[in-house]
Amino acid sequence: MAIRTVRVEGDSVLNKKCREVKEMTPRLSELIDDMFDTMYEYNGVGLAAPQVGVLRRIVVIDCGDNPLCLINPIIVETSGEQCGDEGCLSVPGKFGQVTRPNYVKVACLDRDMNPIELEGEGLLARAFCHELDHLDGKMYTELVEGELHEVAQAEDEEEE
Ligand code: NI
Repeated sequence: MAIRTVRVEGDSVLNKKCREVKEMTPRLSELIDDMFDTMYEYNGVGLAAPQVGVLRRIVVIDCGDNPLCLINPIIVETSGEQCGDEGCLSVPGKFGQVTRPNYVKVACLDRDMNPIELEGEGLLARAFCHELDHLDGKMYTELVEGELHEVAQAEDEEEE
């Protein structure tokens, strides 16, 4: 278990397409543990493997009550629409408004490589879309409507 370095925008690893996971290995299992540690350390709700420099189709998400590990995820259904602020650990201190579906269903493998389906609404649906985009080298900043804005310093302090 370890905190890994989060790659920031400008690092070319964030713009590459990730490869599928064919089998779970001790090395990938350790990567998943480290991704959870890293996400919690930086108070993120999701993290994709390329954000720690590994080009594999692996995502971890925790919107507050349920740690999820998604391997080779694919969006199979969406509905509705939501518009709200989005941020990314690879674009520290910034937020921007992005429109996403309000409901998303994902088909993937869990960390034991069993096929599962996951459904999310609201923040979880947004996290599915944002993190899965990372696996295809896409950053949310390409989707921002209007301008990216900075998190005010005062807000930062209040949160801590
Ligand atoms: Ni992100």
